Amino acid sequence: MRTWYSIVMVSLKGRSLLTLFDYSEEEIRFLLELAKKVKAEKKAGLARQRFAGKTLAMIFEKRSTRTRCAFETAFGEEGGHPVFLSTQDIQLGAKESIEDTARILGRMFDAIQFRGFKQAVVEKLAEYSKVPVYNGLTDDFHPTQALADIMTLEENFGPSRGKKLCFTGDGRNNVARSLMVICAKLGVNFTVITPPSLGPDPQFLERCRAAAAGGEITITPDTAAVRGADAVYTDVWASMGEEDKKEERARLLGPYQVNQALMDGTGRKDSIFLHCLPAVKGEEVTAAVIDGPQSRAWDEGENRKHTIKALMLATLGLSDTVS
Ligand code: CP
Ligand code: NVA
Repeated sequence: MRTWYSIVMVSLKGRSLLTLFDYSEEEIRFLLELAKKVKAEKKAGLARQRFAGKTLAMIFEKRSTRTRCAFETAFGEEGGHPVFLSTQDIQLGAKESIEDTARILGRMFDAIQFRGFKQAVVEKLAEYSKVPVYNGLTDDFHPTQALADIMTLEENFGPSRGKKLCFTGDGRNNVARSLMVICAKLGVNFTVITPPSLGPDPQFLERCRAAAAGGEITITPDTAAVRGADAVYTDVWASMGEEDKKEERARLLGPYQVNQALMDGTGRKDSIFLHCLPAVKGEEVTAAVIDGPQSRAWDEGENRKHTIKALMLATLGLSDTVS
């Protein structure tokens, strides 16, 4: 069956995914629809070789389980050649500039994935390589995560427009920021429940509100704001690179832990729990919640692979191969 967004011509060929700000609602919906089909193909056991003859550079400054494995298995199982490059392996801004590294990688690879610290690095890679570059997490954004998060929300509740997603925890981290962008674009009501000192940067908040397509963005320190939520989301209290802030965060964010009482505060038995993972059980979420019946964190982790495969198919000009 054709849906309104599959009738509209959407081509993402050659595009990078750096923040999601430059993706329209229609383009995001196109990726989500493609990801659903890619997941169905996988469940049906359809083996394809759509990335045969293609290469993907995977640069990692920070550790990863899901993002690395999603990119590597999605690309490799379709005949592509992913090449893992840690900062121990390449000269990225060390003995060679980011620009020059990007120029060379762009001559040898069809696409580049970057996970690291500075958003400026992934943006420079895109500018100078001239091939699609995927932001696999920086200090500022985690856009491929946000795609999997909305896919999971929609698997449970149908179209996300008008749904209520609450993020509780560090309201200025990469995951919270990317959720804010995607919710703004898709008209999802997004509530950030966080102490004032960890609230989003006001300029960033304004930018998201300006991009909002109908949904409301609410920032509050009050955990009672989970009332009516379709999904409650949290992330680690101290992100990678912030290990020295662990104690301070535990003090600030202790009251924001997702436990059964907080989940019950939604007033809905069908509310789901989401977490990008990895989780520190007993800190931002209790084991009972993340391992319990309301948790969809494991589906969400799996959906990283389907959304990332959809993204690579679309940006490498292969979305027509998905039916
Ligand atoms: N959610 C996520 O990005 O997981 P990894 O850090 O394991 O890649
Ligand atoms: N905010 C977390 C996300 C991990 C996927 C971090 O940056 O460490």
